[in-house]
Amino acid sequence: MTSVHVTNLTKDYALRDGLRRRTLRAVDRVSFDLVPGRTVALVGESGSGKSTIAKLLTRLERPSSGRVDVLLDDRTPVRGSVYRRHVQMVFQDPFASLNPFHTVEHHVARPLRLHGRTHDAAATRARVLEMLERVNLDPAEAIAARRPHELSGGQRQRVAIARALAPGAQVLVADEPVSMLDVSIRLGVLNLLGRLQREDRLAVLYITHDLATARHFSDEILVLYRGRVVERGPADAVILDPHHDYTKLLALAAPDPDRATSLVRTETPDRSGIDNSVCYDHGLGAWVHVDEAEAAAAQAHAPVARAVGA
Ligand SMILES: Nc1ncnc2c1ncn2[C@@H]1O[C@H](COP(=O)(O)OP(=O)(O)OP(=O)(O)O)[C@@H](O)[C@H]1O
Ligand SMILES: [Mg+2]
Repeated sequence: MTSVHVTNLTKDYALRDGLRRRTLRAVDRVSFDLVPGRTVALVGESGSGKSTIAKLLTRLERPSSGRVDVLLDDRTPVRGSVYRRHVQMVFQDPFASLNPFHTVEHHVARPLRLHGRTHDAAATRARVLEMLERVNLDPAEAIAARRPHELSGGQRQRVAIARALAPGAQVLVADEPVSMLDVSIRLGVLNLLGRLQREDRLAVLYITHDLATARHFSDEILVLYRGRVVERGPADAVILDPHHDYTKLLALAAPDPDRATSLVRTETPDRSGIDNSVCYDHGLGAWVHVDEAEAAAAQAHAPVARAVGA
């Protein structure tokens, strides 16, 4: 199995503002682990750095500092061309992530060939059909021949999930995988991800704005605010007993049928009191200065770092 250890991950983007140059810190010293059979939810408002973390994990971007170690059970690092076979991503928009000119079969078969998982046409086709059945695309033969525009949004996202898992990926980064789908089919796609995670003991990073699904589908929640983790802990503890002011704001903003007033809130929430130099860690049951939290996390990762020769 494959696990991911993220230590002090930081990403700066250079911004040009006329003649002035500025730096935007999109991700600021974030540390966490993804281990087989567990889902970590990353929640936070728009622009808090969630997708940037997803891109750093899937190597679509390079970190400015910090590290992402992907390790096998025997602690051998996963590097180079096999990295993508181990760590795959499901994007928010299944229409944009699938090529309209290619069939479903082409989309799922391509990573199999690319990563050398199958060596002849019959084996590739059999694996494609098996993957389509696993994501409940039925009848698999008929779906395999279709192009993305001949599928519903939910079916397209299922194809994207089949494509991600086809090469045998064990780490899945799902960046708001259902936010562009109709509300009525979101739960079906999330349940599918949950089932595949249990069956294959996947390590999953589930990125969302939605606290309710984060609680239901994840073991641990990290709350991101302006690039920093401001609260972390077991999912129930973070949702039922939020400590950080920003997490409380997020919880207030989440629709709650028992709290009708939250649906008609129009005023801008007051963030003036939010201190993002501290993080509430439910595991420790204490407030920690972000630097101390990162130092503690780095300490926990130290044996890992040594094992990969860092
Ligand atoms: N390539 C880039 N160049 C410059 N700035 C960027 C780049 N990519 C992201 N950013 C900035 O980094 C910050 C974090 O962006 P990111 O996409 O990670 O946010 P997010 O939490 O995923 O938001 P959303 O919920 O809207 O998807 C934003 O301020 C964004 O404008
Ligand atoms: Mg995003």
